[in-house]
Amino acid sequence: MQNTVEVSGKVHWIGTNDRRTHLFENMWPLEHGVSYNSYIINDEKVALVDTVEIGTASEYLDNIKSIIGDKKIDYVIINHMEPDHSGALGAIIHRFPDVKLIGNIKTLKILTAYFTINEENYITVNDGDELDLGYHKLKFVMTPWVHWPETMVTYDTTDKILFSCDAFGTFGSLDGGIFDDEINFEFYEEEMRRYYSNIVGKYSNMVQKAFKKLDGIPVNTICSSHGPIWRENPGRVLDLYNKWSKYETERGVVIVWGSMYGNTEKMADIIARHLVNNGIKNIKMYDASKTHISYIIRDIWKYKGLILGSCAYNSAMYPKMAQLCAELEHMQVKEHHLGIFGSYSWNGGGVKNLMKFAENIEFELIAEPAEIKGSPSEGNLDQLEVIAKEMAKRLKEDFPTQS
Ligand code: FEO
Repeated sequence: MQNTVEVSGKVHWIGTNDRRTHLFENMWPLEHGVSYNSYIINDEKVALVDTVEIGTASEYLDNIKSIIGDKKIDYVIINHMEPDHSGALGAIIHRFPDVKLIGNIKTLKILTAYFTINEENYITVNDGDELDLGYHKLKFVMTPWVHWPETMVTYDTTDKILFSCDAFGTFGSLDGGIFDDEINFEFYEEEMRRYYSNIVGKYSNMVQKAFKKLDGIPVNTICSSHGPIWRENPGRVLDLYNKWSKYETERGVVIVWGSMYGNTEKMADIIARHLVNNGIKNIKMYDASKTHISYIIRDIWKYKGLILGSCAYNSAMYPKMAQLCAELEHMQVKEHHLGIFGSYSWNGGGVKNLMKFAENIEFELIAEPAEIKGSPSEGNLDQLEVIAKEMAKRLKEDFPTQS
């Protein structure tokens, strides 16, 4: 029996789960795996919507056969050329040499860099173009930079299904449950925010443009290319994406530190206690050496407060903290209140470079940084309390109704 699931009538999920790969893009931990979702519309004309990563192509071809038997595939719609979705294209072209490939003008340039194709079989579509499969009528909407420049989405006007590719996608394999009414939403929400903040978030302004373009189009079901299909409550993930792409945050603080021998970590604990004493309940604490930055950035995308600490390391910032700061700048994270602290033994460097980061990223520094020589002790703790109090004050002003 093949692993396929009916989405609606002629539309089937034929994706694959990848529980073997350790790192997505060879960078982001796949603790709970990932799914590569592809869909087939078995109409008078047969269309595939995206494919899967090459490592799962064999299972994928079996899934296709279990739906269409000996029929041929007429079209492959390429919403996005990143190899986690286009990896199996070569196998499809090999199996169905006459298949028509559908994408936009930018898709073709990337496609021909990866595959040798017969360009006579390539159909270039523009914004708003339609494709008639018989019963299903599809419409193509260009959504550049959600997540690459060629990215587009496909809208089935018949069943009102949005094939959204990376948008609304999550890390985490599909463990039996395929639809949102069959899963634990909280788990996938966290993994969706980790996918969004680390993969798509840099292009949040383009996500907002895509929202405006799709505004008013009725959507019954969102078929993303990673994670669950949103059919029971697609509005819930639309709202989350809208919020994240507008950099809307919540009342809470992420504290991250780099510490060699525990002194900077002690400062983090003192700040956290003062935050609690000043009415802040949502506090996430991370040792930058221990937790992968993708989880830290996921939570920074959620909470407005950010407090960063670094010991001095060879007169510079602690390397793991420097990596986090570089990634935050690269992802163009916006709209946070920032506090800074750190320690040193014989020379500074941690706090000084955190200040440079604050300037570059243009976060509001809520108080003077707290910098301690040696260990935190009774005589040098005042500024840690000031940072916590100022942070709590601003968060309570920003989110008066949240706890
Ligand atoms: Fe899931 Fe941009 O690839």
